[in-house]
Amino acid sequence: MSEIESSTPHEIPAQAGTPPTKRDSFTSKLGVIAATLGSAVGLGNIWKFPSMTGTNGGAAFIIIYLICTLLVSVPVMITELMLGRTARANAITTYQRLSPKKSQPWWLIGASGVLAAFLILAFYTEVAGWVFAYVAKAIGGNILSTDPEATSAVFGKLITSPGESLMWQWIVLAWISLIIILGVSKGIERMTKRLMPALFVILVIVCVRSLTLPGAIDGVEFLFKPDFSRITPGVFLAAMGLAFFKLSVGMGTMTTYGSYYGDDQDIPGSALKVMLSDLSVSILAGLAIFPAVFAFGFKPDSGPSLLFITLPAVFASMPFGQFFMILFSILAAIAATGAMLSLMEVPVSYLAERTKLNRTQATILTFVLLAAFGATAALSNSLLADVKIAGKTFFDLYDFISSSLLLPIGGFFLAVFAGWVWGYPKVRDSLSNHGVLKNEKAIKAYYQIVRYVAPVLILLVLLNGLGLIKW
Ligand code: PFF
Repeated sequence: MSEIESSTPHEIPAQAGTPPTKRDSFTSKLGVIAATLGSAVGLGNIWKFPSMTGTNGGAAFIIIYLICTLLVSVPVMITELMLGRTARANAITTYQRLSPKKSQPWWLIGASGVLAAFLILAFYTEVAGWVFAYVAKAIGGNILSTDPEATSAVFGKLITSPGESLMWQWIVLAWISLIIILGVSKGIERMTKRLMPALFVILVIVCVRSLTLPGAIDGVEFLFKPDFSRITPGVFLAAMGLAFFKLSVGMGTMTTYGSYYGDDQDIPGSALKVMLSDLSVSILAGLAIFPAVFAFGFKPDSGPSLLFITLPAVFASMPFGQFFMILFSILAAIAATGAMLSLMEVPVSYLAERTKLNRTQATILTFVLLAAFGATAALSNSLLADVKIAGKTFFDLYDFISSSLLLPIGGFFLAVFAGWVWGYPKVRDSLSNHGVLKNEKAIKAYYQIVRYVAPVLILLVLLNGLGLIKW
C-alpha cells in the first residue's frame, strides 16, 4: 500500500449546530511507527536505562525490565492505542465515549494523563534545555575538558543560572510548539520520520567509536554481566517504573496517538515493534556510553551527571572528541524531541477538541502555561533551590508524582477498563481490525494478561511505592 493511500482523515462527530470537522491523523504505517517510537525513545534511553542497568545487576536487571515490559507496559500500550483508535478522540473524551455507563468516571484516567503530561513536561523540558544548550556549547567547543572538575563547573554554571536555564527551557518549548502547530501529519509524523533514522545512524556511529577503544570491554561487562544478587524487591519496582516511563504509557499519550492510527494498522504488532526498537536504542546507548567511560578510566556515574559531566570529559579524551560530543548532543536532542511532541499533544488535542480554541491557539496556551509552570522546575537548582515540598525540589516532586504515582495508577485503571469493563468481544474486534488480522492467539494472551497479571503487578508496585506494604 502506498503511504498516501492509508491516509483517511477521520471525522469528528458533529456537536449540535456545528458541521463535522476532519480530524488530522498519521498518514502511513511507517509514520505511525516513527511517531510512536519517537514518543518511547527519549532521554530515558540515554541516562535512565543504561545507568540503572549498570548499577542494578546488568543482564539480570534487563531480564526483570523485560518481564515488566512484556507483562505490564506493552499490554497497557496496546490498550491505550486500541481505545484511542476506537474513540478517535483526545485522552479525556476517549474514556467518556467508551464508558458503558455515563455515570462512571473513567474519564479521570484521561484527566490524570493531562496532569501527568504537564508535570513531566515541566521537568523534561528543563533537562532537554540542558541538552540543547550542550549542542550549542559543543559546537562552540567550550565544554570539552579531560578534567571532570572543569566539566562539572560548566554544568553547574548552566543549571544554577536562572536566566540561562529559563532561556533554554523556553527555546525547547518554542521548538516543540512550532512542530505541534504544523499538525499531526505535517508536524509530528513528518518530523519523527526524519529524526528516527538519523537517531539510529548517529547512535551506531558513536557505538562503533566507543566499542573500538582499547579497554572498552570493561564497559560492556559493567552493562551486561548478570548479577542476580542485586535483584531486590526495590530493584524490581524500579524496573517497573522504568518500563512505564520508557514506553510512555499510563497517561494518555498512547491513547492520543492511537486516535491518529489508521484502521488497518496492526496494533499489537506495532506495539511489539516499538518496544523492541526502543529496547535496541537503550542497549545501543549503553554501548555508546560505558565502554568509552571505562576505556578512559572514568567512574560510571548515574543520572544527569553521567550525561553532562562525565561524557564531555570522556569525549575530550578521544581523538575528534568535539565531533563526537556534537553528535552525541544532537542524538540526545533528537530523542528528547520525539518524546516531548507526544507529551505536548495530550493537552493540545484536548484543548483543541473540547474548547473553542483552534490547534494553534491551543498550542500557544499550552506553551504559555508550561513556560510559567515549568519555570518552577527550571529554577529548582537556582532561585527555588531551597523551596522543598515533602523534602523534594519542584523538579524532583514533579518527577515523583508523575512517574511513581500517576503513570502506575493510570496503567492500573486502563488494564481494569480493558479487561473487566470493555469486554472480550470488543477487544477482539478492535485488535483483529474487525477480523481482518488472524491474531486471535495473541489477543487471547493479551486479554488474560490485562485482566489478571498486569493489574496485580501494578498494584503491588503502587502499594509498595506508597509504603503501604513492605516486601
Ligand atoms: N518515553 C520517554 C523517555 O523514555 O524518555 C519519556 C516519556 C515520553 C514519558 C512521553 C511519558 C510520555 F508520555
